[in-house]
Amino acid sequence: MSSIGVLGAGTWGTALARMLCNSGHDVMVWSIIEEEVKVLSSERRHKNLPNSEIPEGIVFTNDLSEACRNRDILVFAVPSVYVRSTAASARPFIPDGQIIVDVAKGIEPDTLFTLSEVIRDEVRRDGKHDGIKVAALSGPTHAEEVALDLPSTIVSACEDISVAELIQDAFTNSCMRVYTNTDVRGVELCGALKNIIALASGISAGLGYGDNTKAALITRGLAEIERLGTAMGCAEQTFSGLAGIGDLIVTATSRHSRNNRCGYLIGQGYSPEDAVRQVGMVVEGINALPAAMRLAEKYSVDMPIIRVVDDIVKGNINASDAVALLMGREKKAELLKPVCNSDLEKTVLRNFTARGDQGMKRVITYGTFDLLHYGHINLLRRAKALGDYLIVVISSDEFNWNEKHKKCYFSYEQRKALVEAVRYVDLVIPEESWSQKRSDMHEYHIDTFVMGDDWKGKFDFLKEEGVEVVYLPRTPEISSSQIKKDLYDANAVDGESKVNHDEIDTDPGK
Ligand code: CTP
Repeated sequence: MSSIGVLGAGTWGTALARMLCNSGHDVMVWSIIEEEVKVLSSERRHKNLPNSEIPEGIVFTNDLSEACRNRDILVFAVPSVYVRSTAASARPFIPDGQIIVDVAKGIEPDTLFTLSEVIRDEVRRDGKHDGIKVAALSGPTHAEEVALDLPSTIVSACEDISVAELIQDAFTNSCMRVYTNTDVRGVELCGALKNIIALASGISAGLGYGDNTKAALITRGLAEIERLGTAMGCAEQTFSGLAGIGDLIVTATSRHSRNNRCGYLIGQGYSPEDAVRQVGMVVEGINALPAAMRLAEKYSVDMPIIRVVDDIVKGNINASDAVALLMGREKKAELLKPVCNSDLEKTVLRNFTARGDQGMKRVITYGTFDLLHYGHINLLRRAKALGDYLIVVISSDEFNWNEKHKKCYFSYEQRKALVEAVRYVDLVIPEESWSQKRSDMHEYHIDTFVMGDDWKGKFDFLKEEGVEVVYLPRTPEISSSQIKKDLYDANAVDGESKVNHDEIDTDPGK
């Protein structure tokens, strides 16, 4: 059993407190509003959760110090706009090392911090709280359903996996399954931005559009969120997880969603202000818009759906014109990123007609890459640094033998597997003829051709194909031939050489 303080007695804070208390934890809930504490303490029912009784075990208080004292876990469940001020007020009562879980969703517009970052920033301000651990809890969990004990799933995200697991243990019960994730920023970004897509989904329903439109907004909305998230360094898998697509589906389709409802009213012709008033609760999607727009600008990411919602909310465009605008955008491809299947990947690369299509600078390099060594790695690292996407063309066994009259220690497939495992390399393809280089430049829409400077001048003719030709300084002393020679010599000294020297390429000038 843990002792848990919940700051905020809104719908979500109350539903979580009820769940935690029923799991056997000792729970105290704080609210800044005296009247709220009185009503919840006496009526044992929250006005937005009429069918759920609040267990007697939960203590409600206005006293922040009492709510924060001796807690294993402190839950921040206040609306996003009050997260910083609550953290500032609670700081004097929070011990260093405290585990804090944020369950509110949003991004602070001025700092562009996620809410766990806001809490960490604010609580640490006095220089005495460097050891606090802040996690985020987010997923497809409508308070109304959690308060009825309907099966739900959620993600406990913390960079410190042991803290994520501790929270997982505390929040798991027969109705709540908790997954851990260490990509806190990705989880929180999904939580904040899905509310905007839910507004869009509501607007389309309010305009009388159907399920096709909704599915399109959800799918393309997630593509926008993922584009921004990956530009910010978040993990791709987070976006297809519970906090990503999971929460987006539930928020954009459920009748419980305030964002969805607010959007619906806007689609029906209400002004955004009237729609918010009508919903009567915080509409986080509207609060998240300024930060979303600033992030899109900061990371140069195109977010057309979110931009259109922003324009509607600002009154720059009416809802039906906005849909026409989205539908009439320039044509796009769905596959924009490298994929694992290299045949499919080659097709994707070839089919992009011009460089810059993906905002991606492509670099290509050629070689044998036998007995992969640190000279090769140095070259690959520097080649990748010249662009965004590195293609390595490895001479096939047949090409080596028929054209260069040399035999490698490792087969083509083995050399390919080794080079593919290098983090700088995006695609490996075979080199099968001398004439291939010219055609590769066009087929793969190459921007830069790279070789070690042992080849200096030899490939300048490729400039005629419109590519930049770069010769990088070789790493001194090491080469595949040298390794083979050293091993051969060592074997010869042992007098036990089993290597057929004739079959080994020892020409360093190759
Ligand atoms: N390379 C490098 N530094 C090294 C060895 C190789 O920068 N010490 C570069 C080469 O210039 C070439 C690429 O790595 O652009 C692939 O080289 P490859 O010919 O496969 O490697 P070597 O080790 O030079 O092989 P060999 O001794 O068989 O020539």
